[in-house]
Amino acid sequence: MMGRMRYLVTGTAGFIGFHLATRLLDEGHLVLGFDGMTPYYDVRLKQARHALLERSDSFRPVIGMLEDPGALQRAADLAEPDVIIHLAAQAGVRYSLENPKAYVDSNLVGTWNVLEMARRAGVRHLLIASTSSVYGANDKVPFQETDPTDEPLTLYAASKKASEVMAHAYAHLWKIPTTTFRFFTVYGPWGRPDMALFRFVAAILDGEPIDVYGEGRMRRDFTYVDDLVEAVLRLVPIAPGEANRVPDGGVRDTLSRQARSGSSISAGARRSGCSTSSTRWNWRSAARPSATCCRCRWATCRRPSPRPNC
Ligand SMILES: NC(=O)c1ccc[n+]([C@@H]2O[C@H](COP(=O)([O-])OP(=O)(O)OC[C@H]3O[C@@H](n4cnc5c(N)ncnc54)[C@H](O)[C@@H]3O)[C@@H](O)[C@H]2O)c1
Repeated sequence: MMGRMRYLVTGTAGFIGFHLATRLLDEGHLVLGFDGMTPYYDVRLKQARHALLERSDSFRPVIGMLEDPGALQRAADLAEPDVIIHLAAQAGVRYSLENPKAYVDSNLVGTWNVLEMARRAGVRHLLIASTSSVYGANDKVPFQETDPTDEPLTLYAASKKASEVMAHAYAHLWKIPTTTFRFFTVYGPWGRPDMALFRFVAAILDGEPIDVYGEGRMRRDFTYVDDLVEAVLRLVPIAPGEANRVPDGGVRDTLSRQARSGSSISAGARRSGCSTSSTRWNWRSAARPSATCCRCRWATCRRPSPRPNC
């Protein structure tokens, strides 16, 4: 146990950051939540998430942009963080075609500013969100951590890969204990309205047809947000290092594999601790079919656990 700690979490008005901050507050930690309330989707949803977090005296909201190093530094001065979890980003694969600058600003400049802030803060651990989209043109499925990530197919993926390698360089240069994790499509309450589940439901409620992408052949595993939060929190006390690297060949068990081998997806989900839908969603994007389950696809996670991380 590491006791009560001081966290600086970016992106707390966002879907995953909200759930992570809620859990941290429930566990008695102090959380400074940094978020720019960007208008990528309905800002009222972001404000509502923050309003819930603000019910706790242990939550301190700071509204600011990642691109503003002064705002980040002031947040760090207030927070005096033991741990920084960097989730704020311009997310979304398709939007990167419409507004590429948002990805450069938030994910490249913004992440670099966070790295600089973490360097000065001297944190115990810096954890940074990346994405399964970095596997890009890799056509071997299911993906593995050891697969190449040198051929991103969207600027979103490229910006996240750039974040990963910038973080690697900073970890090396400044000895910042750093973990980057690649999330696989996350779902759950308070989710993002730009994502498929919400768009499908909105279309159904409006009596509109559902837009089926990828000629109906795409398959995808989903990660339930509570499982994701559990995984992130289990990683916090694990110091990054050679002993904690993903083994050669990666981690092999996935929901898709279990489903193909005859067990039902829901049974597989129960075993793995992941939740998933039995529906095969279709998705037109640069992502390849059969994105793997998130299960233990973490840069530093090799811990045996009764309820495997997702
Ligand atoms: N949700 C998923 O399925 C998924 C999958 C893979 C990776 N990720 C990554 O996980 C992280 C969290 O994703 P999410 O689904 O919660 O997204 P989200 O859009 O709901 O949350 C991101 C938050 O960051 C804030 N933000 C964006 N740009 C900012 C900037 N420049 N300055 C300050 N704040 C800014 C937004 O206001 C938002 O509240 C992101 O890094 C995303 O790339 C998410």
